[in-house]
Amino acid sequence: MTTERTLGLIKPDGLERGKQGQILDVILKKGFKIVAMKQLRLTKAQAEGFYAEHSARPFFASLCEYMTSGPIIALALEKENAIADWRTLMGATNPEKADPGTIRKEFAVDLEKNTVHGSDSSQSAHREVPYFFSALER
Ligand code: CMP
Repeated sequence: MTTERTLGLIKPDGLERGKQGQILDVILKKGFKIVAMKQLRLTKAQAEGFYAEHSARPFFASLCEYMTSGPIIALALEKENAIADWRTLMGATNPEKADPGTIRKEFAVDLEKNTVHGSDSSQSAHREVPYFFSALER
């Protein structure tokens, strides 16, 4: 297995309910190294650019509105097999289908307000980490 980096986001519902501390604790306890971290609020254009691959989906407008509704925390996470392991730790996109012990099972509100995001492939990670962090920050 090789050391990888992936993008993690703690979404507005997580910060609004004050869950970021508990989520960061789980991430660290599972052996991820946080190589970069920042709190920010996305503009509409930034949210639309980040989720461009979903632009034709019926939930796109609502998703972008939600993702700009409050601050988020962006994380560059590193460990062996980080991309798959972060997706496993997050749980299924729909929290109703997420396994016990996953972040979404424990913290998510619904399919849209699902508390965390993670890159879904190596290709996505290579696009998404630099979307949030400059070369000097990671
Ligand atoms: P995320 O993993 O960030 O990727 C796309 C996001 O769109 C997803 O998490 C949810 O927050 C949101 N979303 C809303 N509705 C759906 C849906 N029907 N299928 C997938 N994602 C959805």
